Amino acid sequence: CGIVGCILDKTAAPTILKSIRKLEYRGYDSVGIATVTDTINLKKGIGKIDEVDDEIHLDDIDGKVGIAHVRWATHGNPTEDNAHPHNDCNNKISVVHNGIIENYKQLKDELISEGHMFKSETDTEVIPHLLEKYLDEGKSFLEAMQSTVKRLKGSYSIAAISTEEPDKIVGARNESPLIIGVSDHGNYLASDVPAILNETNQIIYLEDKEIIQLTKDKVEVMDYELNIVPKEITTITWDSEMAEKGGYDHFMIKEIYEEPQVIKDTLSEADKVHEIVKKFKKFDRIYFVACGTSYHASLVGEYLIESQIGIPTEVILASEFEYFQKTLDDHTLVIFLTQSGETADTIKALKIAKQKSETLAIVNVVGSSITREADHVIYTRAGPEISVAATKTYISQLVCIYLLVGYLGENQEILTKLEEVPEYAEELLDSENQIEQIAKKYKDSKDFFYIGRGFNYPTALEGALKLKEITYIHGEGYPAGELKHGPLALIDKNIPVVGILPPGSSYMKTYNNLEEIRARGADMIILGASDDKMIFDIEDKILFDPDIDEILAPLLYIIALQLLAYFISVEKGIDPDKPKNLAKSVTVE
Ligand code: G6P
Repeated sequence: CGIVGCILDKTAAPTILKSIRKLEYRGYDSVGIATVTDTINLKKGIGKIDEVDDEIHLDDIDGKVGIAHVRWATHGNPTEDNAHPHNDCNNKISVVHNGIIENYKQLKDELISEGHMFKSETDTEVIPHLLEKYLDEGKSFLEAMQSTVKRLKGSYSIAAISTEEPDKIVGARNESPLIIGVSDHGNYLASDVPAILNETNQIIYLEDKEIIQLTKDKVEVMDYELNIVPKEITTITWDSEMAEKGGYDHFMIKEIYEEPQVIKDTLSEADKVHEIVKKFKKFDRIYFVACGTSYHASLVGEYLIESQIGIPTEVILASEFEYFQKTLDDHTLVIFLTQSGETADTIKALKIAKQKSETLAIVNVVGSSITREADHVIYTRAGPEISVAATKTYISQLVCIYLLVGYLGENQEILTKLEEVPEYAEELLDSENQIEQIAKKYKDSKDFFYIGRGFNYPTALEGALKLKEITYIHGEGYPAGELKHGPLALIDKNIPVVGILPPGSSYMKTYNNLEEIRARGADMIILGASDDKMIFDIEDKILFDPDIDEILAPLLYIIALQLLAYFISVEKGIDPDKPKNLAKSVTVE
């Protein structure tokens, strides 16, 4: 989610709208704006900013003081009631919030018992009601914010306006980004710099547990006891597009760098996954249904479930699913993987499957079409993914699958090992330069092979798909043992072969397959453990912590292949975020 606010010497809404558009990359399921005059003026709706603006003209509101929000739903579906800003009972306070209020249920119960009426399912709505409670006790708006934040547990960046003191915005920050922009013609706040960079480049960075009070001519930052905290103003020298990408050249590389955090965030859904597993009816077979990258994540699921739990499992491409419908029954669990929740092939397959079988959807976009059709829903916590090629959403799908396998198979070892994965992912990202060098060396190759065995065969497929999507080079993923049954005829020195070689029971066989390839003169790029002496003499290798065995490897080795494709794409002068002919979400069959 993203928030903005500003106090100007002119009507604020057009500037606020321009700013919130710059934050659309942080969330796009709903948007809202509120200004204060002698009343709170509020407009909000579901959908992308353009869609909502076309319908209700978000910038057509009076007032020189205002706040706005774009939402990426975490609590409650994207509905108009759940969209921000949220008001108090008497519409004299309006609030936007980014983050999660962990103790909102207790606070909501307390406020309801005191007579407050709630309209939404969000955690945020407790904030305007708490502010109202403290204003009614005779506190100033700033003191009301102080009392409110002292009651909140969790992460938040907050901006609030009130008819009681209509010349100001008060706000606070704890574990959720918030910055202030200073200028001669007014003052601003925002979740991050790109939102306001067109208005000012004079920025104050806030720390956790700070409260702010902005008027048109003054900016005050305080601690939770309202002591003034002196702040420096930083002059930003980047342009707004660079800023939106957080300083990265492309969204894709930014999203790859978010992967360690995405793994942590998705692991925090563990209890919800466990609850859903307990609710499953009896089943003796699993189907996974998906397209594209989600299909490859499903294949990892198949290998894990078959080998670790022993339940017969099959992965079916969503566009082919109708040919399998006669095999559905009430002893089959059908799992749909889709980051967007809007892929037409997958929706169609779900409609077929739910007539006879229990269905589970694993989805990144809260409230998307798939989530309304499936019996159970698990949300991945990747946040919005802008680059067309899926990277962090793939990782988040895999984390969900490992959690599912851990709980279905009551396999504590997998669940414990997962906790270490974010750290390994961080370590791997440190070898970015080395992967960039390999990309430079092979950027002009016309064909690539990717080979892996067992759990890591899907990694070979996904690595090859990333290459095709964003470099336009032909890449083919193959099971390591299958190459000798045909494609080996194609191998020669002009075709680099990427070998996925983690430690584990499949190691020796895969190693031998790679030797067969090396004997045909192909260049090898090996992904393996840093203590692997057998690959010592291979020039191009990407090394991982030896503790990452073949079972965990799908979560980590793919990060290297995403980086390899990314750097080749950049070397070739292609925009990796917008590959030709492809769409992020395909809503036709
Ligand atoms: C499109 C995208 C792919 C994606 C596939 C499935 O083809 O370009 O990156 O993997 O759709 O999308 P889903 O949202 O269902 O995971």
